[in-house]
Amino acid sequence: MSQFDPPSDFEKVLISLFEQEGWKATLAPPGSKGYDIELERDGECVAVQVRQQRAKTHAGQLEKFIDFLEQPMSARFTKGFLISASGFTPSVFTFMRTEEIIDVALGSFQNNQIVWEDGEIPPPPPRPHVTYIGVFTCKGGVGKTTISAHLAGAFALNGYDVVLIDLDRQSNLRKLLGDGVYLPGPKGQLGATITVLNYNEWDEQEYPDARIVICDCSPEYDANPEEFLERFDYCIIPTTLNPLGINKNADVIKRTFAAIRRVNKEAELFVLINNYHSDEDRRNHILNDLLKTEFKSMIADDVHCHYIDPEDVAIRYSKQLLYWGYHIVENGKPQLAFREIGGRSLPRTDFLKLLDYLEHHSDIEKVKS
Ligand SMILES: Nc1ncnc2c1ncn2[C@@H]1O[C@H](COP(=O)(O)OP(=O)(O)O)[C@@H](O)[C@H]1O
Ligand SMILES: [Mg+2]
Repeated sequence: MSQFDPPSDFEKVLISLFEQEGWKATLAPPGSKGYDIELERDGECVAVQVRQQRAKTHAGQLEKFIDFLEQPMSARFTKGFLISASGFTPSVFTFMRTEEIIDVALGSFQNNQIVWEDGEIPPPPPRPHVTYIGVFTCKGGVGKTTISAHLAGAFALNGYDVVLIDLDRQSNLRKLLGDGVYLPGPKGQLGATITVLNYNEWDEQEYPDARIVICDCSPEYDANPEEFLERFDYCIIPTTLNPLGINKNADVIKRTFAAIRRVNKEAELFVLINNYHSDEDRRNHILNDLLKTEFKSMIADDVHCHYIDPEDVAIRYSKQLLYWGYHIVENGKPQLAFREIGGRSLPRTDFLKLLDYLEHHSDIEKVKS
């Protein structure tokens, strides 16, 4: 990976590369948000965003760039180029494919050249061991089942076979997904499966292709077999941002942390906001600050507890998730709530972003240890 010092040297190198290709290239005026370089050639006008960071460029950053291109102030741009000095996560390619993005091109900066990603989707990186993820909180109805199933969906879209384990006595996963679902892959490539199992059916030997295991936990701590809680690498604790709930939710989160830590001292714990209304800027900001403060006071010195700031990643409220499961009323076949409405799928984007967030944090942990 290349490091430029000062960072603006990177932009200068890119400008000269674009000029060699016949573009008229200009730096964005100081203080402009959303793009760094503007290109013009033969009636085309391109917004170039440059990413110079250690970690791979992730799905949230691509989404932000697309949002910028869709704003009225970006109307003059006919295209966008996203150039990364450190490559892209698998979720970025999944996002491009599933949202059918055609007016953005991805380029990696390697050996002083821009290498354009040609739409060929790289296979997912191999995983040395099975990753266990629990979705757990001592409270019902906050989205455990919804989040377990759709996080499994995001891994499957990225090419991983996933096993989903239903630890809840209500067996909602079974009702919603039956034995599982198959998600088709990119053209000419195999898709991936999500297999739904009861805890006593799971055997690593029997499912050698499954490298991701996601557990939809029971809100009653004692109903979750300890052998699973012990194995969690990550645990997601879903919660909501609402004024009456802040204190109450903080208390639930605290009890949930304590419960997991009784048997598992290592797992990375992530508090995740579900049912997020992203059109409530001011209120979200205030409530988020309150919950974040509560969170900081409760984690004490546990460095493996994380609060996912909903401005980075949250599961937004969506009708698709609200009505997910309608297929059982219609006797339809099992499916996830990834269907597009108006060309976009909020749940699919949110879960790809969540996956990137979890993987990025585990990378950081690996680098530290
Ligand atoms: N982000 C969301 N947007 C809209 N509805 C949601 C969302 N998350 C969950 N729901 C709905 O909330 C209800 C409870 O979710 P569920 O996943 O069953 O919670 P739990 O497993 O914690 O009991 C379900 O009807 C689900 O459709
Ligand atoms: Mg449930």
